[in-house]
Amino acid sequence: MRQAGRYLPEYREVRARVEFLTLCKTPELAAQVTMQPVDRLGVDAAILFSDILVPALAMGVNLHFDPGPVVDRPVRTAEDVARLAVPDVEAEVPFVYETIRILRRELSGRVPLIGFAGAPFTLAAYLVEGKGSRSFALWKRMLYAAPDVAHELLDKTTETTIRYLVAQVRAGAQAIQLFDTWAGLVSASDYAVFSLPYAKRVLDAVRAEGVPTIYFALDAAHAATEVAASGADVLGADWRAGLASASRAFGGGRVLQGNLDPAVLLADAATVRRRTLAMLRDGAGLPGHIANLGHGILPETPVDNAIAFVETVKGFTS
Ligand code: CP3
Repeated sequence: MRQAGRYLPEYREVRARVEFLTLCKTPELAAQVTMQPVDRLGVDAAILFSDILVPALAMGVNLHFDPGPVVDRPVRTAEDVARLAVPDVEAEVPFVYETIRILRRELSGRVPLIGFAGAPFTLAAYLVEGKGSRSFALWKRMLYAAPDVAHELLDKTTETTIRYLVAQVRAGAQAIQLFDTWAGLVSASDYAVFSLPYAKRVLDAVRAEGVPTIYFALDAAHAATEVAASGADVLGADWRAGLASASRAFGGGRVLQGNLDPAVLLADAATVRRRTLAMLRDGAGLPGHIANLGHGILPETPVDNAIAFVETVKGFTS
């Protein structure tokens, strides 16, 4: 999950001087803010500081953040799709790989470094819609009214994401997480057509590079069987279902990551500890469990509560 960000005063201090995209594009600064939660919270892994929209820049799409992504000229037609590049990622977004190389040197084995990207479906959703949205009506209209155009776009976001992530692994990322934040926009059968095969292509290509994969499909419990078919080494569980129940829905036998509601960290520290313990006990019967939040940390989170979460996890023996 996202673990750097505005809840950390040291992050806000850096952001007061540079814009979000400049931060992503400046390897020394991106490495610095990647390290902030590692130093401050004592988490067991570092997560590359970047954004799921960075590969869009490599495809030739201009965008800015306000605070979420806003695409200057959204992709709406077959011609728009045809104009998108499947880029040489090392040439177009070299800062991502330089950040990873700096981080591996700086971490020197202290904790592993996780790289990431958006899933092809979620990246395409932003390219077409142009920004976050409750219904993603424009993207869904394309799926249903012009599926050939959508598949052409998904093929390009998939090929770009494979290149983008394989290069992250070669630069030193030790595990890869694929974020399918908008997987839950569509029915299980449409997820199986428009997201799963593309996510699976990416996950298979990353696994062939020899690193573990984590696949997080948000709000997709209705498609749990299909999500499990992605074959990811670790399945992300959002905060909505309990871990044991999510595990059953995924068909059992899988390693899960998650899944405390990030909003729990807005309560008092005793509540954080109590609810974190309940989550850990729920996950104790799994073949493996990466304790985490069930979505990104909220900007309003008191740092001490994030620390209480991490300490509770580290002190837990099942
Ligand atoms: O913890 C880390 O260091 C990882 C960094 C990270 C960011 N974005 C930095 C960021 C990661 C893993 C992401 C992934 C991401 N970006 C996702 C998938 C995860 C999820 O939350 O579902 C999505 C959907 C995005 C797109 C995006 N970027 C949104 C919707 C926003 C606005 C978020 C908000 O809180 O308002 C962003 C901006 C963004 N990306 C921020 C950070 C730290 C906040 C921007 C700021 O500093 O002003």
